[in-house]
Amino acid sequence: RVDEQQIRALPKAEVHVHLEGTFSLIDLLTLARENGVPLPGPAATIFDISTHADYVAPEVTSGGGSGAGAAGLTGFLRFLDWQCGLVRTAEQAARVAYAFAARQTAAGVRYSDVIVNPTHWNAWRGREFALLDALAGGLDDAEQDGLCRVNIAYSLLRSQSAVDAETIVAELARARPRRVVALSVDGDEKVAGRTGEKFRDAFAGAARAGFHRTVHAGESSGPDGVWDAIDLLQAERIDHGVRAVEDEALIARLVDERISLGVCPRSNVTLGIYPDWGAHPLRRLVDAGVLVTVNTDDPAPMGTTLDVDWAVTAERFGFDLSDMIGFAQRSIDASFADDDLKRDLS
Ligand code: ADE
Ligand code: ZN
Repeated sequence: RVDEQQIRALPKAEVHVHLEGTFSLIDLLTLARENGVPLPGPAATIFDISTHADYVAPEVTSGGGSGAGAAGLTGFLRFLDWQCGLVRTAEQAARVAYAFAARQTAAGVRYSDVIVNPTHWNAWRGREFALLDALAGGLDDAEQDGLCRVNIAYSLLRSQSAVDAETIVAELARARPRRVVALSVDGDEKVAGRTGEKFRDAFAGAARAGFHRTVHAGESSGPDGVWDAIDLLQAERIDHGVRAVEDEALIARLVDERISLGVCPRSNVTLGIYPDWGAHPLRRLVDAGVLVTVNTDDPAPMGTTLDVDWAVTAERFGFDLSDMIGFAQRSIDASFADDDLKRDLS
C-alpha cells in the first residue's frame, strides 16, 4: 500500500487544476464576510455551500455517455461563478492565488500549472488583465516565500465567441501577462456543442505566439471532442480525455503523438461522468500506453488534495510505489514548467 507520506515526498507536478476550484471553506467565509454577502444556508463544509448549486448529478445511471455528467457539470460551473464573484479586490485575488500555491506545496506539489478562466470572476469583467496581474502578484509572493512555482493557463469558456477568443489571444500575445504560459478552453461541451472549428484560429494564434495549448475534451463530449482538440486546436495536452477510451484509433493517436491526458478521477465520479471509481477507465488508459497524469480538477469543492487522490488512485486501481513514481515523472514531463525546473525535478 502506498501511503500519502510516500506520495507527498515524490517530486511531482499538477497540470489540471482550476484556480476557481481551490477556495477553501475559510477562504469563502472570509471573502463573503468582507463583501457582506450572505452564505446560502448553514455551511459546515464547502460541500454544504456548493450544494445550493445542486451540481451533484441527481441520477448517475451508467458509465460514460449517459449525459448524467453534463447536468452535474452545468450546475457546478454556476457554483464556480458564484464563489469567484466573491473575489473583488486585487488583494483578495492575490490572496487566493497565494493560498493555492501554499496548499499545492503542502500536498508535495513542486510545480503547478493552474487554469484561470476569467469569465467566472464576474467582478473583473473588462479588467481581465488586471485580474491576471493580481493573481501573478500572489504567485510571485508565494514563490519568494519558498512555495511551489505556479504558471497560468488562460482559459476560454467554451460558449465564448470566435471573435472574443481571437481578441483575447491577440491581447495575450501583445501584453504577455506574467506567468501566463498557455491557452486553455474549458466549460461544458454538452451546452456549447462542438467548438473545435470556432476556436481554431485562436489556438493557432496562441501557438504562433509561443503559448502552450491544453484543451478540455472527452469529459462532457465523447471521443469527437478529443479528435477536434488534436486536429483543430493543436492541443499538447487534453484535460480529462477519458472518453478517448471508447475509440481505439484515437488511443493509438494519443500514444503515437505522446499527447498526455490530465485525468481527474474524483471529479469524473463527483460530476457523474462515471458512477464510481471502479467504472473509471484510468487503468485501461494507462495499460494502453497513454501518458496519463492524475489531477484533482477542483480540489476544494470536491473535498480533496492531490496527495490524497494519488493515494486513493494507487489503492483503487492497484498501483504500487514504482507506478506512482511513473505518474510523478509523467506529471513533470507533461507540465508547462520551463526546462531548467523540469530537469531539477526529474
Ligand atoms: N471548469 C472547472 N472544472 C471543470 C470541468 N470539470 N470541466 C469543464 N470546465 C471546468
Ligand atoms: Zn478541468
